[in-house]
Amino acid sequence: MSDSQENSDSKEPATKNKDSLANILTVALGVCFVCAVVVAGSAVSLKPTIKANKELDRNKNILIAAGLFKQGETQESEIDGLFEQFTVRVVDLQNKTFLTEDQIAEANLDISKYDQRKAAKIPGMSMELSNEQDIASISRRANYSVAYLLEKDGEVERIVLPVHGYGLWSTLYGFLALQGDGNTVAGITFYEQKETAGLGGEVDNPSWKNLWVGKEIYQDGAVALKVIKGAVDKSAPDAKYQVDGLAGATLTSKGVENLIAYWMGDEGFGPLLSDFKS
Ligand SMILES: Cc1cc2nc3c(=O)[nH]c(=O)nc-3n(C[C@H](O)[C@H](O)[C@H](O)COP(=O)(O)O)c2cc1C
Repeated sequence: MSDSQENSDSKEPATKNKDSLANILTVALGVCFVCAVVVAGSAVSLKPTIKANKELDRNKNILIAAGLFKQGETQESEIDGLFEQFTVRVVDLQNKTFLTEDQIAEANLDISKYDQRKAAKIPGMSMELSNEQDIASISRRANYSVAYLLEKDGEVERIVLPVHGYGLWSTLYGFLALQGDGNTVAGITFYEQKETAGLGGEVDNPSWKNLWVGKEIYQDGAVALKVIKGAVDKSAPDAKYQVDGLAGATLTSKGVENLIAYWMGDEGFGPLLSDFKS
């Protein structure tokens, strides 16, 4: 290589180093920014759809509990129409009464937006339970609950009530539907729980839930329904107050028994239901 050629090469401007720290940081920050915008945009735009789907699922579970939605027979598109048959009432859990329209307005409650689960976490909208009261292990309960009544010819045919309580690993959220007598079980569903699939998770198994239909909650005014270990002896006098326990999931079964005892008892809907019984 001649001297003159060597000199001309050394005078060329140095090429930009693509692996420089500044380049890497610029690309990384750019990718992060784009991803953040996509994720945040999706979260915001999907929020109404997620909310609507949650509401649809809740309504479907209310219908399943009441026996109005038959898996495999009823179409999802029928949910809204079927749900419209219910009268939605607000229950004052302090005084164990249904609120009138005026009382609902006075309490500043918007039923369509009221979220009992959220309310239970807010001190001004809920009360802390003492150890003695807290048989369902829920720590606090909201001041108001919502009840769904199905009426025909002026008679209440179904009362669907939200229930929840702790199992082994999680809080189980569901609905218990009673017949118009406020005592006989019309159905039960659990729409949210994190028990072990195949063990405690069987609370959501239709075969197990079917065992509840026709059982009775109260005997001589007190909650008598138990989820027993093993199978119910159908000839036993107490059979109508007993449901088979879940195999290998005694603790979840006990949790379900406890949540029924709490919500159907004096601290829950018990006093309100005694009006239906009478
Ligand atoms: C991995 C694993 C998951 C379990 N999940 C549950 C459950 O969801 N609900 C439950 O009651 N018991 C569950 N158990 C069993 C309990 O630990 C406990 O042994 C059982 O409730 C005792 O009841 P049994 O007499 O029906 O076996 C699980 C056990 C293991 C090892």
